[in-house]
Amino acid sequence: MQLLENAILERGRVKDGDVLKVDAFLNHQMDVSLINELGKEFFRRFGDRGVTKILTIEASGIGIACITAQHFGVPVVFAKKTQSRNIDGEVLTSQVTSFTHQRNYDIIVSARFLSPDDRVLLIDDFLAKGSAMLGLISLVRQSGATIVGAGICIEKGFDVGGKAIRDLGIDVQSLAVIKEMRDGHIVFDHDTAA
Ligand code: G4P
Ligand code: NA
Ligand code: NA
Repeated sequence: MQLLENAILERGRVKDGDVLKVDAFLNHQMDVSLINELGKEFFRRFGDRGVTKILTIEASGIGIACITAQHFGVPVVFAKKTQSRNIDGEVLTSQVTSFTHQRNYDIIVSARFLSPDDRVLLIDDFLAKGSAMLGLISLVRQSGATIVGAGICIEKGFDVGGKAIRDLGIDVQSLAVIKEMRDGHIVFDHDTAA
């Protein structure tokens, strides 16, 4: 998606080789009108699939998911990251190993908010190793709901997550796919982005 690629080129910064900072517009300061265009694009790609719920993970996914959900007219559920599992009632839980942050954590969603007749669109800001996305997929599978696809803002195409999630048969649609970041120079992959 040209609009997002331009924002990445003009307002993103490459740090330490393979970390892309997009905190000027996507996950710290948030450019709401830009994110609204991303939400519209997710609706263009997934709007005909009978989505009943959007699932994301705290923190950065929440704002993007909420803006996207306005176009679908469905609720957002976000998985909480926690050490303890003290949430009311029955919960769905999965362990996530973050390579980026070098730690394990549990993610939980109350079982009340995902049911077998739900059709779930997964949304997140980044897809890198895919650990967070795999955790969300596990939660949906435990609930018996159907995954209609995954909408990602920025996929690091050189990392393992995109292949891992697509190999599960999930339709991953990434609005910008980065093929490489070298010396601060970003190259996009237009084949995967579709
Ligand atoms: P991981 O296993 O290496 O941790 O990769 P994964 O794809 O699961 O992403 C883990 C977290 O790291 C995600 O945040 C993701 O947004 C973030 N991330 C991965 N690569 C980059 C990058 O190049 N730039 C930025 N800015 N973030 C990146 P999260 O778990 O959803 O946490 P939060 O940041 O939303 O709180
Ligand atoms: Na995220
Ligand atoms: Na993040």
